Amino acid sequence: MDNKRLKVVSLFSGCGGLDLGLEQAGFKVVWANDIDNAAVETYEYNINPQIIKSEIKDIHVDSIPQCDILAAGFPCQPFSSAGSRKGIEDERGTLFEEAIRVIDSKKPLVVVFENVRGLLSIKNTDGSLLLNSIIATLEDVEPGYTVTYKLLKASDYGVPQQRYRVFIIGVRNDINQSFEFPSPTHSIDDKTLTVGNIIKGIKNLPNQNDVWKLSPQSENMIPFIPEGGSWKDVPYEELPERLKGIRDNIKKYRSPNFYRRYSRDEINGTITAAATPENCGILHPLENRRYSIREIARIQSFPDDFVFKGDSIAAKYRMIGNAVPPKLGEVIGKAILDMLGKINPVCLEDLRNGHTQLDLFENDKGCTLLL
Ligand SMILES: C[S@@+](CC[C@H](N)C(=O)[O-])C[C@H]1O[C@@H](n2cnc3c(N)ncnc32)[C@H](O)[C@@H]1O
Repeated sequence: MDNKRLKVVSLFSGCGGLDLGLEQAGFKVVWANDIDNAAVETYEYNINPQIIKSEIKDIHVDSIPQCDILAAGFPCQPFSSAGSRKGIEDERGTLFEEAIRVIDSKKPLVVVFENVRGLLSIKNTDGSLLLNSIIATLEDVEPGYTVTYKLLKASDYGVPQQRYRVFIIGVRNDINQSFEFPSPTHSIDDKTLTVGNIIKGIKNLPNQNDVWKLSPQSENMIPFIPEGGSWKDVPYEELPERLKGIRDNIKKYRSPNFYRRYSRDEINGTITAAATPENCGILHPLENRRYSIREIARIQSFPDDFVFKGDSIAAKYRMIGNAVPPKLGEVIGKAILDMLGKINPVCLEDLRNGHTQLDLFENDKGCTLLL
């Protein structure tokens, strides 16, 4: 059974949010890599014991198996020279280029990149858009990839979180298919996605007692913030000096909504890797504390039996905040399978084995459908 499933190589895999989703869609992750101890321990426990803990730059491509799909949520670093792989100041290149190195060697049928919304506006040092460099570089990898990208909102696909992430999908040109991003399946009024619904019945589940203590400053402010409120509800005299300064010039700072405490009727905001109450929706609606690890895992659509490992509480919050919600990964995975399902299965098998469209045509293997 397993050898029929399309194979994924996963770079920057973290604790495996995207990979779990791809497996739920029907793929098999055959190799994964990350540098973070706690993320690797969690991945080993829940998904695949084969994950390699290493700096990606130290991994030779020969030690990575062939794959059909290459997935990578690389941390963003602007290029020092747009579109040129030679102009990079760090002679070992950016982390995005590490993904390109593997793609160039393995020639997967499909490439899945995921990144923060900021990727849409990050500039290279010459002022050009990093996103355009990424697309151009991927288009140029032999035998060429057709690239499409979209900013997706996770709650549109049934994840109980208003989280935006950019997905970039590259399809190898010779498979002659175009990738279509799936249409939204859920509305913002969907009551199944609300905080109240998500934090129900969670008491005895793994990681529910993992709660990262707030700083004394936050502990002091939070009792003033009602369910559905924010720092705007905290009396001026209770604010720390820095926030008093912002409150004094609120227009200049464009009315920031710090210390947001979502109500049970709302869909939660983004859970970030830093999990700071100042900048993300990490406060429990009723109790004066951060959400527990299990609560944010649910907001990220991880199943209740997915256990987060590691000695450091901050590392657990970080790996969950960094993750692609598995449900969103599954939606993307199914859309890729739908696309690949349009290919004649005999041809798909040959394409997976490293043949090109032209080989198949010349060998008269009945694959003219591809042309
Ligand atoms: C945004 S997270 C990826 C999350 C993952 N896609 C998921 O869905 O769970 C980026 C990951 O890259 C890893 N990373 C950063 N620099 C790395 C490097 N030089 N080599 C290997 N992994 C690295 C981090 O530890 C982090 O887990």
